[in-house]
Amino acid sequence: QVIHREDYRAPDWRVPEVALDFDLGPARTVVKARLEVERAGPGPLLLDHGGQEIVSVQVDGAPFDARNEGKRLTLDLPGDAHVIETECVLAPETNTELMGLYASGGMLCTQCEAEGFRRITPFPDRPDVLSRYSVKMTADKARFPVLLANGDRVGGGDLEGGRHWAEWRDPFFKPCYLFALVAGDLKANRDSFTTASGRKVELGIWVREADLPRTNHAMQALKGSMAWDERVYGREYDLDVFNIVAVADFNFGAMENKGLNIFNSRYILADPETATDADYDAIAAVVAHEYFHNWSGNRVTCRDWFQLSLKEGFTVFRDQQFSADHGSPAVERINQVRNLRAAQFQEDAGPLAHPVRPDSYMEISNFYTATVYNKGAELIRMMATMLGPDRFRRGSDLYFERHDGQAVTCDDFVKAMEDGGGIDLSLFRRWYSQAGTPKVKATVRQDGSDAVVSLEQSVPPTPGQPEKKPMPIPLRMALFDTATGAPIGEERLVVLEDAAADMRFEGVGERPVLSVNRGFSAPIIVESDRSAAELALLSAHDNDPFARYEALQQLMLDTLIAGVEGGSADFAPVVDAVRLTLENGALDKAFVAEAVLPPSEAFVGDRMSVVDPEAIHRVREALRAELGRTLERQWRAAYLGSASNRFELTPEAKGARRLRSIALGFLMAGGAADAPALAFEQFQGATNMTDRQGALTVLVSSNAPQREDALAAFYDRFKGDALVLDKWFTTQALSSRADVLEQVLALAAHPDFTLTNPNRARSLVGAFSANQRGFHSGDGGGYRFLADNILALDAINPQTAAKFVAPLGRWRRFGEARGALIRAELERIVAKPGLSKDVFEQASKSLA
Ligand code: ARG
Ligand code: ZN
Repeated sequence: QVIHREDYRAPDWRVPEVALDFDLGPARTVVKARLEVERAGPGPLLLDHGGQEIVSVQVDGAPFDARNEGKRLTLDLPGDAHVIETECVLAPETNTELMGLYASGGMLCTQCEAEGFRRITPFPDRPDVLSRYSVKMTADKARFPVLLANGDRVGGGDLEGGRHWAEWRDPFFKPCYLFALVAGDLKANRDSFTTASGRKVELGIWVREADLPRTNHAMQALKGSMAWDERVYGREYDLDVFNIVAVADFNFGAMENKGLNIFNSRYILADPETATDADYDAIAAVVAHEYFHNWSGNRVTCRDWFQLSLKEGFTVFRDQQFSADHGSPAVERINQVRNLRAAQFQEDAGPLAHPVRPDSYMEISNFYTATVYNKGAELIRMMATMLGPDRFRRGSDLYFERHDGQAVTCDDFVKAMEDGGGIDLSLFRRWYSQAGTPKVKATVRQDGSDAVVSLEQSVPPTPGQPEKKPMPIPLRMALFDTATGAPIGEERLVVLEDAAADMRFEGVGERPVLSVNRGFSAPIIVESDRSAAELALLSAHDNDPFARYEALQQLMLDTLIAGVEGGSADFAPVVDAVRLTLENGALDKAFVAEAVLPPSEAFVGDRMSVVDPEAIHRVREALRAELGRTLERQWRAAYLGSASNRFELTPEAKGARRLRSIALGFLMAGGAADAPALAFEQFQGATNMTDRQGALTVLVSSNAPQREDALAAFYDRFKGDALVLDKWFTTQALSSRADVLEQVLALAAHPDFTLTNPNRARSLVGAFSANQRGFHSGDGGGYRFLADNILALDAINPQTAAKFVAPLGRWRRFGEARGALIRAELERIVAKPGLSKDVFEQASKSLA
């Protein structure tokens, strides 16, 4: 049951017209479909389905006896054009997988990507079959007063017995994964946007009435995204309406259905009391992401699912650009890189590593990964860096123009960049086919008055790919004077194409300090022999803010690794560098807050051959304590200097809140006597969730007596708000206390915990598995907890269960004893009768 990219064949039948008729009810929904099909090849018509009750299949008005095997109907049809009519019956309220048509909080909604549409009606469920849809919905009017689908509403009215109907028509050809409908008792935040060419678009964000006041931020983000895509990519919206619906039960972040985006409510709802600044930023980014898909994904879609990064990598890159344009570009980049390293580098280094354009899969849902999304975005970014903004824009214009209305491949995108941008990307294409994070060794040596930078690249072996070829790696680099820290000459963009190369910088004088991969111009690991003094110099003087951040991170990382591996480390250079950063009045607070944070325990572990979570935790805490103690005056100044009594969402205000909670954390780590009281005071006096959760996070990892009071107060106040309660679970699951596993086990038994809501499952199980110290503690209880939950969730929602397997896949990295314990859990999972293919694929690959 493995599907290979090489086996792609174009469909034998096109389906230009689709008419769907839904008689909607939570317990019973009847779906009638009418497909106009046209022959495009010699084979039979294949209609995928989800095992639902199929009442009838007719061809041209007469009953047809279709072969039904392996959840697929095969229709051997004569001639070239037919009308296929099917009828099936669904039970949305029992659909716990949340794929296809399902019920959530009293409403009915759909999720079709990647292969959910077949669970609604038999169909050639593949992205290269493009159709125009008409959708008629009939439902009880009191329960489902609002009926939405893709495109424009073209009709509707009341019926006998308290029922009503609505019909929608989407004039654009689209693959079935972009189909959507929603029926519910919803209210809209309405607004409008006029496009550059004068089309007035009605905008609606649909939520439960009580949530309406929390939709304004999303609406501003939507309008901002529409304007941004016109300005930066020349892309206009193309329908008269654009609707967004927020749903409480959702398997991932959101979905770009044509004209009717459906969102996990956590990426729509925000007000200062319940959403953190990070939530606000994530909402804007996801709203932008889904909106941008209208062109990068919907107008131009994927030929097959191996090409997923065609739309996801490009669209992530676009939403990253949007976020950078609306905040601090440096801090945005820092956060993007931190995410990439936490998720994608780990994936690339483990048994689930795969290329940005995978070669095979068992279950496509397992390939909505950090590699396809985030490394995919880095590939687009590298092309943009090599081309420069104008030529990149010519490439993207050509891409949209050439492929509008088509289902295409990653290679078509690269070709458009080549043709439009005027660049040869033949070697660059290797980035799409080779998995693994490249390493680049960068060293500087003196040659007379010249400096010579030697670069050497290697791409590690990954499953199924023992040998790798060198790839073009665009590296922004600059040199700095060792004595003064002044820049020497201009930054250069060097593309390392071969396995190794030397770059000569002429007339440099004394051996300079190298700043390389500035702005994180390539998704690689740099290995350099820069000393603590050189890194400290860059951290104080580099004129690229990302590189400055990176230098201090590298200094902290080297120090922590020395502490873990050598048993002792000299913290003084880190303390000095952090002091200079805190005292540098020219840096903005948002940057300072990120720069002074030591690398995460997981990131330190990634750089060690055998991960010792306890030792990493101990050394990192010792460093935090030392920083807290020695720089107490500076932390206090940062803490007090970042207070504010007015809530604003400006980058400055957000930066101040971030720095304030980070300073609080250092005061606590340093053992300042008043730190617990300060934290509790911040917690109680907070006028916003950022300050409140910042204080709670600090208290939860402590033994302070205020800890339990704060947790109880938080629970009491927010127990009715699912999204905030998720934070309550997550904050505790991420605690660095030694007893976190016990706490997590108790929380799993809490009446508010459930696996049926994916957000809640992630808030506890997902968060805990990212807590390196807690998850790997003791006797394997953390592994057992995770495996138990994967198995329990697999019976309800395999797709979300499979997302929890990855941490177990890292067993090789944690030494003999832990490795054996983790393997035993993976074996227990694989052995479970009736296991889904989603979880089977991830667990069996993890063992291999
Ligand atoms: N296309 C959606 C987005 O990135 C996500 C769909 C996820 N689907 C899945 N099967 N995991 O915006
Ligand atoms: Zn997407």
